[in-house]
Amino acid sequence: MKIVKPTEGPEITISSIKADIGGFVGHSESHPEVLEIARQLLEQAKTDGLLIDFRVQHCGDDMFLIMSHMHGEDSPVIHGLAWDTFVAAANKAAELKLYGVAQDLIGDAFSGNVKGMGPGSAEMTFTERPSEPIIVFMGDKTSAGAFNLPTYKMFADPFNTPGLVIAGGLRPGFTFEVHDQQKHRWIKFDMKTQREECLAHIGAPGRYGVKRVFNNSTGLIAAVTSLDKLTQVAGKYVGKDDPTAIVRCQGDFPAVGEVLESFTTAWTVEGWMRGSHHGPWMPVAERDSHPSRFDGPPRVVALGFQLAEGKFVGPRDLFDDAGFDRARDEANRIADYLRKHGPFEPHRLGLEDMEYTQMSEIEEVLEGEWQPLTDTAKPEIRGDAGEGAD
Ligand code: F6R
Ligand code: MG
Ligand code: MG
Repeated sequence: MKIVKPTEGPEITISSIKADIGGFVGHSESHPEVLEIARQLLEQAKTDGLLIDFRVQHCGDDMFLIMSHMHGEDSPVIHGLAWDTFVAAANKAAELKLYGVAQDLIGDAFSGNVKGMGPGSAEMTFTERPSEPIIVFMGDKTSAGAFNLPTYKMFADPFNTPGLVIAGGLRPGFTFEVHDQQKHRWIKFDMKTQREECLAHIGAPGRYGVKRVFNNSTGLIAAVTSLDKLTQVAGKYVGKDDPTAIVRCQGDFPAVGEVLESFTTAWTVEGWMRGSHHGPWMPVAERDSHPSRFDGPPRVVALGFQLAEGKFVGPRDLFDDAGFDRARDEANRIADYLRKHGPFEPHRLGLEDMEYTQMSEIEEVLEGEWQPLTDTAKPEIRGDAGEGAD
């Protein structure tokens, strides 16, 4: 029997572009009819030759358009298609009177790229290997930067990824492209020689986010995440960033199991209720990605695909596995513990991160009532307090 081994495929771009265009019920889930509208539009785009293939998936109230094509990254054609798809889906959401219709469609006039318009995007271009396993991650009720810690674990921690110690293609390590969200600049850190410098930055995921990861021996792109921040677009809290990421696996990249291993701890992320709380990031199957308790806890879904000439073979729902039961138990235990803090930090975010929430309105109302801390301003103690005291 002769087996014809697969060969290298074409150079393709994988785009994961996502938006919350309306929740069912409240902010907890996506409605199947809304997802169906998006599928119909992308099917037409595939028939028209714009896309090689696509999947429309969801995590909670966020819709993820996972597309393969030959238009490269930041293509006005693909971004325009994504925008039009979100708008059509939002119209369906409006018809069903879902909650928060068009929440993430903030910009008024589409100008060729969804960046700065509300949706999040992660895109990478590469020549398809003879066998190309990838994982698309989808998050809900959390923020840009949430992937920093798991990305560090999968690409730079030998205790998570033994390939960094024993696999020739991984031993030279990986380089992280880190974006500074405050000063709008970027830098590269070689994780073999600048690990500590990198950690000093990405340990603050609210400001610094790992955007891309490259293999040091081949220079090939290994991972990309969305770092789009809704508050920076809207100027106030309208919803969380709910990020996405694409990771290439096997061979000169971490194995599927090494990538997933980095989610066996329910890491603390920001988001959850009103985007104003720290909570555990729970790895779940897509069917369990409907954050309900206290609008959470935050969720992450991992969809695995094999690519075949740019076509998606899959998804396999990778957290749909008993191996992640303990991470889910841990998440529930942490959720119980943190919830006991009620409105107190560190469950509630620190003041700096509350800046974009309704906190600023409360501060404004009380502004005139504050008195300076001088001696004369000390409250008087009236009555007979102190009488008879020694
Ligand atoms: C978190 C989120 C929800 C809402 C909350 C209040 O990302 O979307 O927790 O913030 O349900 O929503 P509104 O203000 O729309 O009633
Ligand atoms: Mg929402
Ligand atoms: Mg969401």
